[in-house]
Amino acid sequence: MARHYPGGMPSPHDTLAPVISAAIAAAFGDEHRGADPVLRSSQFADLQSNAALALAKRLGMPPREVATRLVQALDVTGVCERVEISGPGFVNLTLADSWIAAMVQQVAEDPRLGVEVAPALVVPIDYSAPNVAKEMHVGHLRTTVVGDALARTLEHLGHRVIRQNHVGDWGTNFGMLVEHLLEVGESSEAARLVETDPNAFYQAARVKFDGDDGFADRARARVVALQAGDGETVRLWRSLYEMSKHYFNRIYAALDVTLTDADLAGESTYNDDLPGLCAELQERGIAVESEGALCVFLPGFTGREGKPVPLIVRKSDGGYGYGTTDLATIRHRVRDLDADRLIYVVGATQSLHLQMIFATARLAGWLPEDVEVVHVQIGNVMGEDRKLLRTRAGDSLRLMALIEEAVEAARGVLDEARPDLPESTRHTLAWQIGVGAIKFADLSVAHDSEYVFDLARMVSLTGNTGPYLQYAAARIRSIFRAAGLDASDPQARSIAVVEPAERALALALLEFGSVVRQVGADLGPHRLCAYLFELAQTFSAFYEVCPVLKAPDEATRQSRLALCAATFRVMEQGLALLGIATPDQM
Ligand code: ARG
Repeated sequence: MARHYPGGMPSPHDTLAPVISAAIAAAFGDEHRGADPVLRSSQFADLQSNAALALAKRLGMPPREVATRLVQALDVTGVCERVEISGPGFVNLTLADSWIAAMVQQVAEDPRLGVEVAPALVVPIDYSAPNVAKEMHVGHLRTTVVGDALARTLEHLGHRVIRQNHVGDWGTNFGMLVEHLLEVGESSEAARLVETDPNAFYQAARVKFDGDDGFADRARARVVALQAGDGETVRLWRSLYEMSKHYFNRIYAALDVTLTDADLAGESTYNDDLPGLCAELQERGIAVESEGALCVFLPGFTGREGKPVPLIVRKSDGGYGYGTTDLATIRHRVRDLDADRLIYVVGATQSLHLQMIFATARLAGWLPEDVEVVHVQIGNVMGEDRKLLRTRAGDSLRLMALIEEAVEAARGVLDEARPDLPESTRHTLAWQIGVGAIKFADLSVAHDSEYVFDLARMVSLTGNTGPYLQYAAARIRSIFRAAGLDASDPQARSIAVVEPAERALALALLEFGSVVRQVGADLGPHRLCAYLFELAQTFSAFYEVCPVLKAPDEATRQSRLALCAATFRVMEQGLALLGIATPDQM
């Protein structure tokens, strides 16, 4: 990967920040070297520094004088064509077209498009985590989509990502579920529901449990048998698990999600660890008995009237819960997987739970200070009535039905826009567009905010949508096709930046590396979504005023083709990091 960025990183901000810091150090002493002295006046435009204003206070000097001295010490040869002091002491930095051209040239020639490879960390990501014999709901949809985008992005940045699908495959309700499976018969239609309509299966078991005392007793005895490892019971439990796995895998395949069976690390995988884990907490005085249960009382976790809220690690009946298992996930991921950074992509409603888990693990020394842990909080998905998304009948939604609805809606849009395409092509495209639409809608909102699931808006070809971006990429591909060329072909072409629209597009392209790096740091894929949307708009504006195939001369044509190709590759790569396909045509 031969990359060479003369005069810093491709992003103007990344290039100029250290240069300004160095100038501050030279002019006023090292102790004043600012952390981030550059402001962007607007996206993809020239830069402005407010360093002088901040420094003036500390130095007790008029800001404009600080700015003047700063500019005298500033060496931006080759990068900026103009440096001016404006207003109360802003320093305006106008980038040189030649610098922009040289940088965008290198990004265009870079297989990684300006995305640096980070020093590799081991990063287990906990995401998706649906429950065995239950329907995945829209909340699971979102952790799956966000988690997968983060996994793809971190991997692209060079990290070793370890996907951990912490499926809910254990707990007392499995007594009821196993007993129900036994009674309906493993190869019956009623049992097959686990694969096709898990909620129907679950409800059927629940109805019997609530209405039939005999069944309820047998279900309770089943729990005991399951926990004791009774052969037949475990076999039936496993059969439930296998059927659910098929269901999950169908959803993952439909959504084009990277999770595989190898990533399954359900709650039950930790069963054997739990007694020892509790014993260790108790011996070390971190957990204490309270009303028969084993509890951890953490400073700062109090409920009403300042009453401490305990983390219960062993219930009074001797059973273990969700919290105990999650402590085991941390210990395992740090100790056995050698994690440097732990990521939990889990519903925002579980925030208190995870905060208590993290604090306990720190206390116990299972989570050393140098290992970062992050709860990527997932906000709710709402219906148009602003309540949690449900079907009209008020039931929870079947996820597969939702996906199929999106694909159908995409198909409708496509049938209208491209009736000329053959049926099989339209079928493939409808899936790519429908799934892309769901994913983009999910990812473009900050992951901890709610959003309203509005199918018609999601599949629209205009506005901030997945299909709009897919269309933008497909359109660039068609420019190349029209010239008998291939947008992905890494052909060397020399870029010149002349027109303002070319300059804006080039500046946009220079930001890709830093945006991807930021998503890796802040774990917010919505930044990448926003960037790609702006890039697509910037491209549109460029294409409107700068003819490409009919450029005035061959050099300009080549230069513009190079800008188009780089834009296409950034779009395609960016969408791929989000887990969204780039259709061949649209
Ligand atoms: N299965 C849980 C649910 O459906 C989510 C598990 C999230 N991961 C975790 N390590 N707690 O709500």
